[in-house]
Amino acid sequence: MSILQSLNQQHAIENHVQLREIADGVIIAEVSNQHALANIALQGAHIATFQPRGEEPVLWLSPNAKFAPGKSIRGGVPICWPWFGPHQTDSSLPGHGFARTVPWELLATKAYPDGSTSLRFGLIENDTTRTQWPHASTAQLEVTVGKSLRVELVTTNTGDAPFELGEALHTYFQISDVGNMTIKGLDGCEYLDKVQDFARFTQHDGIVIESEVDRVYVNTEADCVIEDKGLKRAIRIKKQGSKSTVVWNPWQEKAEKMGDFGPALHRDMVCVESGNALENVITLQPGETHTLMAEYSVEKL
Ligand code: BG6
Repeated sequence: MSILQSLNQQHAIENHVQLREIADGVIIAEVSNQHALANIALQGAHIATFQPRGEEPVLWLSPNAKFAPGKSIRGGVPICWPWFGPHQTDSSLPGHGFARTVPWELLATKAYPDGSTSLRFGLIENDTTRTQWPHASTAQLEVTVGKSLRVELVTTNTGDAPFELGEALHTYFQISDVGNMTIKGLDGCEYLDKVQDFARFTQHDGIVIESEVDRVYVNTEADCVIEDKGLKRAIRIKKQGSKSTVVWNPWQEKAEKMGDFGPALHRDMVCVESGNALENVITLQPGETHTLMAEYSVEKL
């Protein structure tokens, strides 16, 4: 029996989940239920698409995204783990950690009476991950696809020494045009501006993007709302276990330089990432578990 057949035998649920191989070695859990459609790659436990029925897609996926073993998918919800951004001491290690480019195991699927579907994934360690991250730990991702998309990243310290964890759900949202959009919820928060050498500023009012933006808002547990006048909708981002919110749009020049982005596509997306980064990294004691949760839902404007 092929891997795909055995995955389907164990985890497919009629009218909820089916596993498909969309390219050589690239398996996707396709979720289709009464509320929404979603595709989740087993590599990276990467949610590539989410679209509530009757709505435009909530997540942005680059038309040039690469679906290939070892490559991160440009769009959807990349998992940054167990560090965010460059590694603190070793710049040769991959930015945003390795979780988004390694295979995860599909551990369980479940259909709920309200018509939603959940899937649980576990990160698979290998020699490379153990070298890069010599801390005994587990990472699991629970994804619930309903009217909203709920994502929980659960980290446990299974060793006997504490470690520092940086993480983020690096979510790309689809918008009608960056000029139609305001991000609300961060008024009064402090942020470190990566475009200005990590200088510290305070946000006033909503965030309007007119050039490259790469900011880590710190010490904020607030919901964010992306108001989109073009699509006449707002995307609400609720979060728990997260003290940082990262807002990113590479703008034209940087987007053009990325092989999996493309000219002008920066206008269709914005990243609002829920996580724990920089001064908000988490110290996890032996035996402790930390859960980072974000939930994305659509409201009419
Ligand atoms: C953001 C960072 O979270 O991710 C940016 O703040 C970075 O600095 C961006 O450019 C994209 O990262 P990557 O590794 O997916 O190209």
